[in-house]
Amino acid sequence: MNLDKLLKTAHCTETQDQVLSITPKTQEQVDILKTVSTQYETALWQPVSPHYIKEDTQVHLFVPANSSETVKDLLQRHAITHEVLLANPNELIEMQTRNDSTDPRSSSTFYERYHSLEDIYFWINRTKQDNPDTVKVILIGSSFEKRPLYVLKLSLNNRPNKKAMWIDCGIHAREWISPAFCLWFVQYSLSFYQSNKDIANILDNMDVYVLPVLNPDGYHYTWTTNRMWRKNRSTNMSTKCIGVDLNRNFDANWCTEGASDQPCTEIYCGAFPESEPETLAVADFLRSHKHIVQIYFSIHSYSQMLLFPFSCTLEEAENHSELLEMVQEAAQKIQRHYRNIYKYGSGAKTIYLAPGGSDDWAYNLGIKYSFTFELQDRGSYGFLLPPSHISKACNEALLAVKTIALKVVEKTKALTTPA
Ligand code: ARG
Ligand code: ZN
Repeated sequence: MNLDKLLKTAHCTETQDQVLSITPKTQEQVDILKTVSTQYETALWQPVSPHYIKEDTQVHLFVPANSSETVKDLLQRHAITHEVLLANPNELIEMQTRNDSTDPRSSSTFYERYHSLEDIYFWINRTKQDNPDTVKVILIGSSFEKRPLYVLKLSLNNRPNKKAMWIDCGIHAREWISPAFCLWFVQYSLSFYQSNKDIANILDNMDVYVLPVLNPDGYHYTWTTNRMWRKNRSTNMSTKCIGVDLNRNFDANWCTEGASDQPCTEIYCGAFPESEPETLAVADFLRSHKHIVQIYFSIHSYSQMLLFPFSCTLEEAENHSELLEMVQEAAQKIQRHYRNIYKYGSGAKTIYLAPGGSDDWAYNLGIKYSFTFELQDRGSYGFLLPPSHISKACNEALLAVKTIALKVVEKTKALTTPA
């Protein structure tokens, strides 16, 4: 740390970036907060769009140093109280991006750290080279900025007629725990196939397709420029605002209530369904594999939820009760093993209407076991979950994935084995 920075930290704590937790009590306060989060330079963490700000519900707002005074002034003038959720997010960001693999005192493993996009590309290559018989790398397309979209195919044996499971991570750039989970999952599967009977049972019956970073341009941008970025990085002639929310860009009640046709919002649905190369690549791949893919998982953060379709309508999915049973069992197991609470249910009823999501689209394609997980935490660190929490967050999610996958394997066996 240089002297200048040291003096700043010592004397003017109030001019640092902060994350505030604010609970509006009246409609007037709701309106003020909506204005603050749209008109001032801030980043809304929760809810995802100002539209959802309502009375008596916590708002998590990232406030950069340069708008701190104005924002706090405004809050004070309208008697809106706030708590400081994170007094020093920059310190957390620094901790997450530090490369401590070279530090001999560091006890964390590769999988207990966050990795830059470049490192993840290296990891993909190394994983393939170290496991030439079981891991294949498939190029399914490229991003707006022409970065490759690689899917790892884990195929632990070559039984005939195997089904498959899909997991994507990092559709939203700032949700760093998500790509970390995909890496964790691959490592776990390859290491414990021989010794863990559940993972063996799953992988004997299913191949797994893992897309570690669905939105590489956005992810790269969060490492280099803006840690709070959510969307992809596509540009459009008709606006100066950048990026489409890829989880509003799929063809499932596209751009209806819960998405926005305004390019400058965080939930911009894009010019048309699958307008984005990242969306199109995933959709094309799943369309061409729809007869083998039985389970779809999309990994997000934060808020600790296990969700299933629909998010694009309040209607119930045809196998609603079956899906509910699965996530309930998964949530109970997480609570028993890790003492952590996960909410569960259909997306629209558990959080909000969010059309154009990948899970609903995959479901409508015929993948009847389709899920979106929101990993840790519930707002203490939000998107800035410290590396020391990665292992627990990933193990919880892994337990949920295993629980659901095992159920599907069982159901499939019951259907295909004569009594
Ligand atoms: N929080 C995520 C989002 O806003 C996931 C919402 C649930 N699923 C969905 N298909 N919308 O995109
Ligand atoms: Zn997300």
